[in-house]
Formats: sequence, structure tokens, C-alpha cells
Amino acid sequence: MKSLMYRSPRLYLLMLKTMHGNELERRYQEIARIAGGRKVFEAGCGPALLGRYLEKDRYCGMDLNERFVRYARKKGYRCVVGDIMSDGFPKAEVGVIVDVLHHITPQEKRLIERMREKFETVVVIEPVSAFNVRMPGILRKIWDSLLGDADGINPLENRKRWIFTRKELMKYLKDVGADRVYTLGRDVVAVFRRSEDRDKSMMPLKESGSEFRG
Ligand SMILES: C[S@@+](CC[C@H](N)C(=O)[O-])C[C@H]1O[C@@H](n2cnc3c(N)ncnc32)[C@H](O)[C@@H]1O
Repeated sequence: MKSLMYRSPRLYLLMLKTMHGNELERRYQEIARIAGGRKVFEAGCGPALLGRYLEKDRYCGMDLNERFVRYARKKGYRCVVGDIMSDGFPKAEVGVIVDVLHHITPQEKRLIERMREKFETVVVIEPVSAFNVRMPGILRKIWDSLLGDADGINPLENRKRWIFTRKELMKYLKDVGADRVYTLGRDVVAVFRRSEDRDKSMMPLKESGSEFRG
């Protein structure tokens, strides 16, 4: 069962804007900055909001939500319907995972590993708390399936186990191998690089917050 926002790309955008305000734009700008002039593949691309921040021929995405993919394609973005946990990824230099880890948990480590095998740089951006609100069981279920994070792919039973404080999330991403972990507003950013790529600039935006020091 999909919640309302996973049925309508426009509602999805409205909900994200309401939740994140100006920080929404900042997360995509940060990815564009890290990517530089390189080609980007977005796993779990949704309606391809990131596409607006890159030249069209430098962006491609994959998602299992057919409506989102159709919407993105109408806007001129290269997107395919596919399962990011099992399908092959297209050619690109930078792999991006935005707002997706809390959906695919407990498989998130496997996705990060698959992406690291394929792309020279992998960027993960994850909100500290997404839709993981604490509520009594049945209320939580209703909330999830109406207005929450029910994507029609990943069960609530898995998703509700994704509970991290900011510090814990930063430590987790460092522990799974990120070269750099820092905050950007309410998001946590993790950058994984192949060794030959590590000496390229890794400085975050000026406004970026604290760096994880372990
Ligand atoms: C919160 S949305 C993030 C979308 C996009 N990255 C963004 O920044 O707006 C999570 C997306 O992950 C997709 N997703 C979840 N599991 C997936 C899977 N196994 N394969 C492909 N897409 C998946 C959902 O359909 C949904 O569009």
C-alpha cells in the first residue's frame, strides 16, 4: 500500500517542501557541488528532483515507483523503473542515495556496497528523522499508510526500526566506510570515495555544519 505522497509526484514535492523548507534545495545543490562535471546516477530517484540541479545529460535515476519515473521522464530526465537492490546500474561516475536508506533498511549496507563497487564516488544524504514518528501501533500504521513513508515497496515493520540520533547516524555512516561525514541542516551527508579519488576536494558548502570526529 502506497501513502498519498507516493501516489502523486506533486504531493510528494509539496510534502518535502513543507518538511524541509529551504534545506531541500541545499541537499541537491550539495550533490551537484560534489559531482562537479561528472555523470550522476541516483538510486531511488523518486520524481528526480535532483535532476534540476544538473545538466540533463549528466543525470539518470532508477526507482520502482512507476508514477514517479513516468513524471520524471515527462520532464526530460533519464529514469528507469528498476529495483536498486537487484538491477544493474547504468554507467556514471557518481552514485547518489538521497532519503532512501530509511526505506530499504535493513538492506542499506548492501546498497551502499553495491554502489561503491560501481561508482568512483558515492554520496549518501539522509535526514536524521524522516517520517519515523513514535506513535502507538495502530495509529502509526494508519499514519504511515495515509501520509507517511509507505512507499508500497518496503514494509513498515522494517522501516520503523530505523531510529538514530544525529550522532548515531553519523557514526553509523563512518563505520560503514564513509571517508567524510558532516551535517547539512537537518541532513547528514556521507561521501565515500575510491582511493584514487580521495585527494579531490572534499570541502562541504560554507554553511555546512559539524563534521563527525568519532
Ligand atoms: C523518500 S523517496 C526519495 C526520492 C528521491 N531520492 C528524492 O530525493 O526525492 C524514497 C524513494 O525510494 C524508492 N525506493 C524504495 N525502495 C526501492 C527499491 N528497492 N528500488 C527502487 N526504488 C526504491 C521509493 O519508491 C521512493 O521513490
